[in-house]
Amino acid sequence: MKDQIPTIQTEAIALIEAVADARAFEDARVAVLGKKGSLSQLATAMKDVAKEDKAEVGQLLNAARQAITAALEAKQAALQAEADKQALEGIDVTLPARPLALGGLHPLTLIRDEAIQILRRMGFALADGPEIEDEFHCFDALNTPADHPARNEKDTFYFDSGKLLRTHTSSVQIRTMETAVPPIRIIAPGSAYRRDEIDATHLSVFNQLEGLYVAEDVSLPDLKGTLEYFFHELFGPETAVRFRPHFFPFTEPSFEIDVKLTVKGQQPRWIEVAGCGMVDPAVFESIHGQRKDDAFAAEKVTGFAFGMGLDRLAMIRWGIRDIRLLIENDVRFLSQFA
Ligand code: DAH
Repeated sequence: MKDQIPTIQTEAIALIEAVADARAFEDARVAVLGKKGSLSQLATAMKDVAKEDKAEVGQLLNAARQAITAALEAKQAALQAEADKQALEGIDVTLPARPLALGGLHPLTLIRDEAIQILRRMGFALADGPEIEDEFHCFDALNTPADHPARNEKDTFYFDSGKLLRTHTSSVQIRTMETAVPPIRIIAPGSAYRRDEIDATHLSVFNQLEGLYVAEDVSLPDLKGTLEYFFHELFGPETAVRFRPHFFPFTEPSFEIDVKLTVKGQQPRWIEVAGCGMVDPAVFESIHGQRKDDAFAAEKVTGFAFGMGLDRLAMIRWGIRDIRLLIENDVRFLSQFA
């Protein structure tokens, strides 16, 4: 038996090396390692080996098993490599893949997020309120008289229930003051709705950002400083900003804010970007009527408020001439912001 082992080992390895495909590999493996395989038969014969020879024969047998196993593994790897090579035949793996089109944020999202960031740095927190509002929160509590044109059915979307689609985000001022106590410093970005004829500068659904600051001793210079800083951050420190006296029912005094827009090849011109003012005591009075406490007593607190059109800000920032581009989802337009 001692002499048989090297012979069988040599034969087995020759058999394995001659293998050319997966089928022949399996046959060879069975012929050597299978139950009736040559190596297995040697192992069975071990029991007949004389005791004093057992150690030596056992060693030989182990060495043979190791050599055969190594040959099998090498052959299997070689077959696999060959199969992989064939599978890739005719395929150019160096060919670059087709590029995936990258998505990007909508310009309105970009300008809104930027505006929020600037105001958050000044301590304003996000607030929110319903888009389906009632007349009280949209108009009455904001000191808007019953015969004010904004309340007209021609200008506002009313539901049969008497509710309406909010015409501005100023209603969030009221919602906030009903539940929170001063000091309050909030901003509320969101949609607003008006029955406007749609054209290059008007949509019936548009986007505003409302702000409200109520505390002790909030003054007009606070308002001015805050909003000037805001527009300088948004449009650059050189941007000229002016406050023009105006009227809003819910602020007194009230202003419209214009920024000076300089477009290459055009005369610079002022464009209105926001409304603002000091909260009218009549607004605090309606909050008092709701809350029944004196958290907003007009002799204790003052405040300022502002509201701006985000669509308008985006148009200014990127020189967009038609507001409808913001809702048409034309990829040729939108991809410029990605
Ligand atoms: N709500 C006004 C509008 O939609 C904008 C506005 C003006 C908001 C003055 C304010 C404000 O908070 O103080 O035109």
